[in-house]
Amino acid sequence: MQVIIRPTEEESTRIVATLVANAIRANPDVVLGLATGLTMERVYALLVRMHREESLDFSLVRTFNLDEYVGLTAEDGRSYHAYMTKHLFSGINIDRRNTHLLDGMAKDLEAECRRYEDLIRHCGGIDLQLLGIGRDGHIGFNEPGSALYSRTRDKSLTPMTRRDNAKHFVDPSQMPHRALTMGVGTILDSRKLLLLATGESKAAVIAKAVEGPITSRMTATAIQLHQHCVVVADEAASSRLEEQDYYRWIFDNEPEWAEFR
Ligand code: F6R
Repeated sequence: MQVIIRPTEEESTRIVATLVANAIRANPDVVLGLATGLTMERVYALLVRMHREESLDFSLVRTFNLDEYVGLTAEDGRSYHAYMTKHLFSGINIDRRNTHLLDGMAKDLEAECRRYEDLIRHCGGIDLQLLGIGRDGHIGFNEPGSALYSRTRDKSLTPMTRRDNAKHFVDPSQMPHRALTMGVGTILDSRKLLLLATGESKAAVIAKAVEGPITSRMTATAIQLHQHCVVVADEAASSRLEEQDYYRWIFDNEPEWAEFR
């Protein structure tokens, strides 16, 4: 795992957006795994700007989102379908037939999850998976207790996740209790992982995810098992990491990071 610490949220976000743009330029039909949430909104805003100002071409890019709420239609403004249209897809030249999200309205949720796993496999697997991190340590919606080998499935959300995400619902009582989510095992199958965390509210969870013992109580700890994982965090989110000096030395000295210094 590589841990990149940058002074501000803006700089951390810029590195993540640039790494995604580099992956697209290196492989125009790259398969991206996408996340939602406030942290990702800023990444998507930068990618839209790169499309407009630097001709970043999404025409062949294929995407799979991590998760979707159960019980919301794609047209519902609070769904992750709507989030993706608003924050990314409407601002870039992606072919909507190449964008894939789980259907939280499917009659047979198990079949829907199987379909999604098959489709990911059919596309050759995910090349680069973007991840945020929840305050309870979830990646995707893999809440505490999720098996580290889990596959895409229906998951109940914790009270903390429901409280955190209720701000997107005018009436917080309408916040769904369940979501479909790629499993931890599905995420770990991606060729590369790229996790972004910003702000003081993520400091405790980032310390555990990066340096704590691997446990299904906090599914983000599973990223330690992955051979190609980059964690980007701002000063606030990285403040409780014990090996900060080492991570900073690598960023300042390794040729891989020269373009970002
Ligand atoms: C949603 C997802 C979640 C979020 C996480 C952080 O697709 O994957 O794991 O990344 O809940 O959300 P924010 O950025 O809003 O703190």
